[in-house]
Amino acid sequence: MSGVNEIRSAYLNYFAKNGHEIVPSSPLVPRNDPTLMFTNAGMVQFKNVFTGLEKRPYERATSSQKCVRAGGKHNDLDNVGYTARHHTFFEMLGNFSFGDYFKERAIELAWNLITKEYGLPKDRLLVTVYSEDEDAAKLWKKIAGLPESKIIRIGTSDNFWQMGDTGPCGPCSEIFFDHGDKIWGGPPGSPEEDGDRFIEIWNLVFMQFDQIAPGNRVALPKPSIDTGMGLERIAAVLQGKHDNYEIDLFVALIRAIAELTGADPQGEQKASLRVIADHLRASSFLISDGVLPSNEGRGYVLRRIMRRAMRHGQLLGAKEPLMYRLVWALVREMGQAYPELVRAENLIEETLKLEETRFRKTLDRGLTILDEKSASLKKGDMFDGETAFTLYDTYGFPLDLTQDALRNRGIGVDIASFTDAMEQQRKKARAAWAGSGDTATENIWFPLREKLGASEFLGYDTEIAEGVVTALVKDGKEIEAAATGDSVAIVMNQTPFYAESGGQVGDTGILSGDGVRVRVTDTQKKAGDLYVHLGTVEQGTLKLDLPLQLEVDHARRTSIRANHSATHLLHEALRQVLGDHIAQRGSLVAPERLRFDFAHNKPISADELRRIEDIANDVVLENGEVLTRSMAVDDARDSGARALFGEKYGDEVRVVSMGAGQGNALGWSVELCGGTHVRRTGDIGLISISGESAVASGVRRIEALTGNNARHAVNATIHTAKAAAAELKTTLDDLPARIAALVEERKKLENALSDARKKLAMGGGAAAGGGAAATSDIRTIGDVKFLGRAVQGIEMKDLKSLADDGKKQIGSGVVAIINVGEDGKAGAVVGVTADLTSRFSAVDLVKIASEALGGKGGGGRPDMAQAGGPDGAKADAALKAIEAAMGA
Ligand code: SER
Repeated sequence: MSGVNEIRSAYLNYFAKNGHEIVPSSPLVPRNDPTLMFTNAGMVQFKNVFTGLEKRPYERATSSQKCVRAGGKHNDLDNVGYTARHHTFFEMLGNFSFGDYFKERAIELAWNLITKEYGLPKDRLLVTVYSEDEDAAKLWKKIAGLPESKIIRIGTSDNFWQMGDTGPCGPCSEIFFDHGDKIWGGPPGSPEEDGDRFIEIWNLVFMQFDQIAPGNRVALPKPSIDTGMGLERIAAVLQGKHDNYEIDLFVALIRAIAELTGADPQGEQKASLRVIADHLRASSFLISDGVLPSNEGRGYVLRRIMRRAMRHGQLLGAKEPLMYRLVWALVREMGQAYPELVRAENLIEETLKLEETRFRKTLDRGLTILDEKSASLKKGDMFDGETAFTLYDTYGFPLDLTQDALRNRGIGVDIASFTDAMEQQRKKARAAWAGSGDTATENIWFPLREKLGASEFLGYDTEIAEGVVTALVKDGKEIEAAATGDSVAIVMNQTPFYAESGGQVGDTGILSGDGVRVRVTDTQKKAGDLYVHLGTVEQGTLKLDLPLQLEVDHARRTSIRANHSATHLLHEALRQVLGDHIAQRGSLVAPERLRFDFAHNKPISADELRRIEDIANDVVLENGEVLTRSMAVDDARDSGARALFGEKYGDEVRVVSMGAGQGNALGWSVELCGGTHVRRTGDIGLISISGESAVASGVRRIEALTGNNARHAVNATIHTAKAAAAELKTTLDDLPARIAALVEERKKLENALSDARKKLAMGGGAAAGGGAAATSDIRTIGDVKFLGRAVQGIEMKDLKSLADDGKKQIGSGVVAIINVGEDGKAGAVVGVTADLTSRFSAVDLVKIASEALGGKGGGGRPDMAQAGGPDGAKADAALKAIEAAMGA
């Protein structure tokens, strides 16, 4: 048995051969347990299978699980580098039975693997059993033939395994390897057990109970098995080493670090090399599982691990950021077993480089302060906690880094004064909030945020997770419990629900567990980064501290993702078609549609819209991966990433890129964005622009649909167009020409109709029927010819041209035409030939007609004027009134 990779495969294959399903490692951030910071054992992903809550298609499983033991119940961070077997990250090999085989078969399988497959000599092995578990002792005797002296009974919690304060648990039996009497130490349970001679290599847990709450333990539905063997430990034993850091994997990593720094792997700087190798693994695997450095929760543990390694890099004399230059070596060693590492290689490098570049700016200065302030201290002294706080607050030194730096000299840190200084600063921040002028109801969120810390958002990687209720708010007040029917705001310690921001609407979904069901109708961010779920309790009583499963409405979120990614693609396409002046002014990313507002001061033509849509859809069809990385805001801007003008960004930003880069190395579309996106652009399906309009001066808006919404809209349009073509008895292709021809034809017909009506009106005489009628003829009043005519159904606009025709017909004289419309109202036009305008004014005459028609006034020029009146029945009287005025 040679390298770590072979040992891992041999383990998995052995159990596969024995009827076990090989299950991939679950992520380091547990999806199914709100109480755990990181996955810390192989059984974590199977927790609900043991308790019977979850069913899997197999009853036996085996895995090699990524584990992190830092910043939680199991925290090994401070020891790493100084011992032979502590790690922040390690792999746990395990086999599991979910109510299938139990103790006997578990012991048999384990014994055969280590003595036959791995070939360990029997006389170097011994086991412990829980003192109350006589069964196990008997089985070891029977199966392994171990003498009583090698079956050690232990009564302490060492032989009762618990994942955390709650969860499945049971008595356990551990297998130890004896490294021989050249190394000091005694067997487990002896006064010398802390020595290094006897090393635990495998823990077999006989899962029988579920710890529901402290003091409340119930039996599991069926006795089960959970075993855990640290891969690094068994590799050390199989490779004849006594130190995990001397196995092939660590030798390779440490060699890479030594080559870059010139440090001697066996020299005085051994601890620093080990710290860096270990922390490189933890940081890289955490980043590839979606954790990014921050000042809260998991992100802060990651930051502490990274910074601790970075300080050790500095101790090795590295003048430039070091960690990111080691990632390739890790990927070479472990990428095959964990492909996620290969996929995230760039992200890991960028994240490490950014963190180290930033930390280096303050590291030297902080270390100088640390040296100065500790210069006079001797072994056993305490370093001032207030200075430790300054180092933390101003120079980014996590407390454990300061402790680590003083450890070699035997100096501790005064934690009490550190905590005091921290509390003082919180008080100041509280005072600052009090004056920030928020409304009374909103004020509740700031103290809550301070008490609870930021909510951890898990929704980039998952839509289902567990969380614990940390606050309930109703009508602006904190409450302890909410009953069925209550509308309530719920804060959880972690959540996959996206809270509305950056134009993207908040998630909806269901919270459930322990007889409680809550429908979440919106999620909002309060006090910066407190995620607040707004919902109604549909069932049960919702209480503080209750663990719940949170499930985002998947279909809705899927549409939101597509719309958000499509918004980015349209943004870039708009820029390419319309120009660089396009700046985002706002956006809405909802499940059913998206809209995007931007600076542009004229309408977008149909042709431009089509090009924009085509360009964006080309990138959809490329189906490239959508990549997210974390960058310093300045680097992101320098790289050409688009940011929302006037938006306040933190120091670190998320950068989302899609499409193959042209000019911009990061991608075709690169934007600062905290939203959720599709995995590959093809997931958008289709983008269809549904509208273009103006929203304010210089700001245009486009609206668009994606996926099924786009497909349905496009299909509906095609359907309508086909129906129109069928109606016109033509093909879809000929439809526009056919419509244009019809419009043209209609125009011609209208003109012809109007001409016919005019002719009929002027030429027809009293008896003329149809749409037009005339009731008078040409008369002579004194020496002036008068043509007076009452007509019907003539358009007002044609009345003047009729009067002009009349003037031509009589040569010299006065023309009056009164038209009665369908509504019974009348319009009157009076024309006076030029030779007579000194005697008669058309304006005066039309006013007289208007009065007769029950109207008032009228207007025009002396040779042509028009007026109207409500009373069309008086048309003849109006003509008579004009005649009278002319002296008849
Ligand atoms: N859960 C046990 C452990 O972590 C065995 O896998 O040791």
